[in-house]
Amino acid sequence: SEEGLALTPPMGYSTWNAVRRNVSDALIRKTVDSMVSNGLVDLGYKYINIDDGWWDTEGAGGSSNGRDKDGNILYNKNKFPNGMKSLTDYVHSKGMKIGIYTDIGQTGCSYFGSYGYYQKDVDQFAEWGFDFIKLDACGGDAMGLDFKKQYAEFSQAIQNANPKRPMVLNICEWGKQQPWRWAPGIGQMWRVGFDIDNQGSFWNGVLYEIDRAAGHADIAGPGGWNDPDSLEVGVIADKPGQLSLNRDEAISNFSMWAILSAPLMLGLDVNTMDNPTTFSGQFADIVTNAEVIAVDQDAAGIQGTKVKESTPGLQVYAKPLISRTSGSRAVVLLNRTDAPTTMTVTSDQIGLLNQFSVRDLWQKNEMGMYTGSYSASVPAHGSVMLKISGTNDPSWTPPS
Ligand code: GLA
Repeated sequence: SEEGLALTPPMGYSTWNAVRRNVSDALIRKTVDSMVSNGLVDLGYKYINIDDGWWDTEGAGGSSNGRDKDGNILYNKNKFPNGMKSLTDYVHSKGMKIGIYTDIGQTGCSYFGSYGYYQKDVDQFAEWGFDFIKLDACGGDAMGLDFKKQYAEFSQAIQNANPKRPMVLNICEWGKQQPWRWAPGIGQMWRVGFDIDNQGSFWNGVLYEIDRAAGHADIAGPGGWNDPDSLEVGVIADKPGQLSLNRDEAISNFSMWAILSAPLMLGLDVNTMDNPTTFSGQFADIVTNAEVIAVDQDAAGIQGTKVKESTPGLQVYAKPLISRTSGSRAVVLLNRTDAPTTMTVTSDQIGLLNQFSVRDLWQKNEMGMYTGSYSASVPAHGSVMLKISGTNDPSWTPPS
């Protein structure tokens, strides 16, 4: 059974934001080596997910539709000269898990899809040794398919996989047919919006995804998570040499994904993270902040919610840790405006009695005991992230 999959939000690295379609055996192996040696795997980043670009397209496998004459799916042999099994074996030997990508339709966003071949493809992915499938909807959308029906059928194919293999199903239909109504129980994570890198600016993308995910806190929990898309932290924008997000925005990206219990899929160049002069080196401290990761990975799996927005753009989010009544909260003060400002969280907003202690998770510092409220200055587009500990107010109902 799939029980036990994604009990906390999946963490890892996805090729899409990092290298687009330039995926290959060599890149995956190198990236795995980096993730082991720079400590990312120990921090919980266990998945390495191959996104678009692996399928045989131009006849590297001798085909024009990505399948052989018996319908077997073909990968690009130029990019993956050692075969998929050899690659997944390598990834597993390093203590990691590996993902693959397809579409519910006949075509995908750029190449092909699994329509008509769900069981055959799932069996092939299982035989190859994959642990995660991102299932896109470009082709299914073009065919006018009923997404719920198709994703459920694909999910069933995973249940029936031969060989048997637990595989996380990442539903990627961008919120178009309201996956929050049906995705829990079908997949372990479901996208709630369109692509984060397709919203005018990357910062707009972050805010857009936050708003999409925040509306569905009630359905998230162990085994199923809202997916606001991969992280943009430290990602080089499509213009060479330009970052998608500045440092304050990147801190907001990471803080908010953690408080929203989102999957943490990295897109920065993990191969240069050890070098402080590179972009990813400059953002390494963000994605390796173990205390922020711990908020995301909290075992209770309660998605945080917005508890206050009295001035537009100044938002307070709170996430109960350990249990709803523990008296322990993660809090993010998110400044969406273009000016630095002072923001305040009060004990009643987060369901605590008057007295509480505060730890700042980005300063990594105990701020002391407070009565009633805590204030901090927050940079433009930035976030302050706190862990607040006190006594639960039993009359508190967190807003949904
Ligand atoms: C869609 C998905 C993205 C990515 C691309 C690949 O746009 O939403 O996350 O997988 O396809 O082409």
